[in-house]
Amino acid sequence: KIIYTEKTKVGKTSLIMSLVSEEFPDEVPLRAEEITIPADVTPERVPTHIVDYSEAEQSDEQLYQEISKANVICIVYSVNNKKSIEKVTSHWIPLINDRTDKDSRVPLILVGNKSDLVEHSSMETILPIMNQYQDIETCVECSAKNLKNISELFYYAQKAVLHPTGPLYCPEEKE
Ligand code: GTP
Ligand code: MG
Repeated sequence: KIIYTEKTKVGKTSLIMSLVSEEFPDEVPLRAEEITIPADVTPERVPTHIVDYSEAEQSDEQLYQEISKANVICIVYSVNNKKSIEKVTSHWIPLINDRTDKDSRVPLILVGNKSDLVEHSSMETILPIMNQYQDIETCVECSAKNLKNISELFYYAQKAVLHPTGPLYCPEEKE
């Protein structure tokens, strides 16, 4: 199970829809339908269930339930929105840690969406966070709009579940 979390229009639903349809949706619902990607079309050959999160449509209790069921959680921020980066450490990581066992922590992936909107990478801000929290398996900057790093994000999420002890890795921006 993969769950995408953030509140403020960072592009969670767009990321899921871009992944599934291989094109950027001009309009998206608040929350994407739950979907299972069959094993044979995923990079690591495991069926993958993707769960979106919408603050508007779901209660805190539903969010907590999804967190407890997840095998990996993608925390999405927007690279052009400082507030959304701050919320990763002020809100999302503590919330997730409070909801999961210390011994069986779920791997986290930091996802910086909307890379099409900025020249500058957010990695300088993200790396100290990566170093501070062991549960963060990897980070990736991507764009639902121009489909950059979308399949990579999916691959990292699968890998985080299947091979969770891998070293921290931040992919270089690829043009
Ligand atoms: P909530 O469900 O309200 O929490 O938002 P969300 O995180 O699901 O974001 P959503 O996918 O609805 O996208 C919010 C807005 O950002 C929409 O107008 C999208 O078109 C836009 N957007 C999403 N991804 C990208 C991207 O990669 N680049 C750009 N430029 N815009 C994007
Ligand atoms: Mg949404």
